Amino acid sequence: MLARIESLRIDGSAAIAAAPDVAALEELRVRLLGRKSELTSILRGISKLEPSERGPVGSGANAARAALEAELEDRLVELEGAEVERSLVGESIDVTLPGAPPVATGHLHLLTRTRREIEDVFVGLGYRVLEGPEIEHDFYNFTALNHPPGHPARHAQDSFYVDPATLAEGVVNDHGLAPGPQEVLFRTHTSPMQVRAMESQAPPIFIIVPGTVYRRDTIDATHSPMFRQVEGLAVAEGISLTDLAGTLEHAAKALFGTERKTRLKPDYFPFTEPSVQVDVSCFACEGSGRLADGTRDSLCKGSGWIEILGAGMVDPNVFGFVEGAYDPETTQGFAFGIGIERVAMLKHRIPDLRLFFENDVRFLGQFA
Ligand code: DAH
Repeated sequence: MLARIESLRIDGSAAIAAAPDVAALEELRVRLLGRKSELTSILRGISKLEPSERGPVGSGANAARAALEAELEDRLVELEGAEVERSLVGESIDVTLPGAPPVATGHLHLLTRTRREIEDVFVGLGYRVLEGPEIEHDFYNFTALNHPPGHPARHAQDSFYVDPATLAEGVVNDHGLAPGPQEVLFRTHTSPMQVRAMESQAPPIFIIVPGTVYRRDTIDATHSPMFRQVEGLAVAEGISLTDLAGTLEHAAKALFGTERKTRLKPDYFPFTEPSVQVDVSCFACEGSGRLADGTRDSLCKGSGWIEILGAGMVDPNVFGFVEGAYDPETTQGFAFGIGIERVAMLKHRIPDLRLFFENDVRFLGQFA
């Protein structure tokens, strides 16, 4: 019997030492020391032994039990430690590794960015940003801007007119009547907001109006039936052409670089008098018309100047169409209109207008 107890202890010890994990050790505990284990039944059977055997078997079995319990306890501590160690190593993060590849988050479209750049320049000068309707009355788009009936810009081949039958009930023209076939259109420029803004606010007024405009045009590298403009209007006491020149020179430098110069050339627009075209000195050739290698600069076509916008002093007739505080005899102000696509194309040397609208991310991604 004592020999059997000894071999149970030795086998038990070996099994405990070999237990691979905490779960296996728990099974061993049940098998070696549980109620149905051999050692337990030996201890339970002691009373049935010869009196002379009871002492040695009892103490031998208890000693074996105590030894195995102690070994189980030690091995448990060992295995638990190993498991913690394993999970620490397995779940550890090497903070010196490079980050996961960045997720593409997208960015503003170049035209939005350019619009905001233009807005920032004028907001910095104290201008407010207004927006206006893209479907406009002929009165605001043409009449009040001094385009008399019969003006070529009013022709159906230049403008998109809206079928009056498609208009909401209650829309009326400036005579209070239901609009006729050529009285509501997609605005052909942002200039109508000059009149709308002056109707809602007495001078002084300093506003810019970014927005989309529409003209009947085929689409090619430099034409599109839809494009964007920013209108500007400044009306205040004593405003003169010099203020216009200074303001636009500041804007040109802010948009195209501080080295830029500007010049005004006579032009014609129905709603300004005098009207000017504003040129900015070419930033590709520094105004020389020739590139560093001596060849003709294609950006400015060798002239050293790039036309950027139309402008002028507001024609008194326009003030005459505004009801209220703009007396045509005494009020003065200037206006200008700049193309957003044009600014972006010049600045970033984009050769084809269609690239803005095709939304090819390989193109757009270059302007993140
Ligand atoms: N509305 C003109 C156009 O679309 C641009 C323009 C020219 C606007 C002169 C102005 C201006 O305010 O003064 O061609």
